[in-house]
Amino acid sequence: MPPLILPLYDPAGLAPALANGLATTCIAHELRSFPDGETYLRINTDVSGRDVTLLAALDRPDAKITPLLIAADALRNLGVKHLTLLAPYLPYMRQDKQFSTGEAITSRTFASLISSRFDKLITIDPHLHRYKALSDLYTCTTCKLDAAPLLAKWVGEHVEKPFLIGPDSESQQWVSAIAEEISAPFDVLAKTRHGDYDVTISDLKQPIDKGTSIILIDDTISTATTMCEAVSNIIDAGYEAPICCAVHGIFSDTAYDKLLDAGATAIVSTNTVPHISNQIDISKLLISALAPKNRAPDT
Ligand code: R5P
Repeated sequence: MPPLILPLYDPAGLAPALANGLATTCIAHELRSFPDGETYLRINTDVSGRDVTLLAALDRPDAKITPLLIAADALRNLGVKHLTLLAPYLPYMRQDKQFSTGEAITSRTFASLISSRFDKLITIDPHLHRYKALSDLYTCTTCKLDAAPLLAKWVGEHVEKPFLIGPDSESQQWVSAIAEEISAPFDVLAKTRHGDYDVTISDLKQPIDKGTSIILIDDTISTATTMCEAVSNIIDAGYEAPICCAVHGIFSDTAYDKLLDAGATAIVSTNTVPHISNQIDISKLLISALAPKNRAPDT
């Protein structure tokens, strides 16, 4: 039997497509806050003996973590057999070491909370950099999906003569995969981060054919500081303003407007995080990971 889906946080409205694609149903539930701010949750579907996939958009995670743990415990108490967390965007992956003495390594704390409640975690392009695999952090079964083919398809369909640029060394994995898929040239720049809103990015390493369209590719846009700096470098070097493309468009505060003001000609993201820039749909990728027949390998 396919898993039932609990769309705990689904602002992108992915659940109907998933339920349809998997020939399953969504769990009826009520989630709200008591007047004092505590969480109330009621599960209104019989879940006993079933496998359940809990869908949660986990950008801006802190307010969602307590309800998430409460939901996992409630489902267990109601007899769920196997519990999967489907988090298209996985938060708390970037503070993966102590950059200064005394700092909390939040990636470990979050991984331990999730691993204590869920049998399996499915996510898309987690920010793996110093950790090489999710299993370095998570003790539950994990499945890492790859949106690079979807980004490559978008670039292939929308951009003539693309030249891909990654703004920092971490982005190399996505940029090189997309470049290979569409046989496009690419370059990767070097970034030094001095603070949340302060980065320096190296100049382009090679001259770029003036007839090409430059596309900046990164896994995540958060404050857009990285993208803004890279856009400025490209424009200052005398090239046409680039398109900016990311898997996860978090866009904190005024990040989106800042990036438009910096000169980006278009800003494109997937719907792992709902945003006006979403042009690439990840629902089929999620269905492929959940469908028993062609499921992506677990790690
Ligand atoms: C970090 O290395 C990531 O790949 C992104 O470059 C980073 O998260 C972007 O953050 P921001 O938009 O705040 O510069």
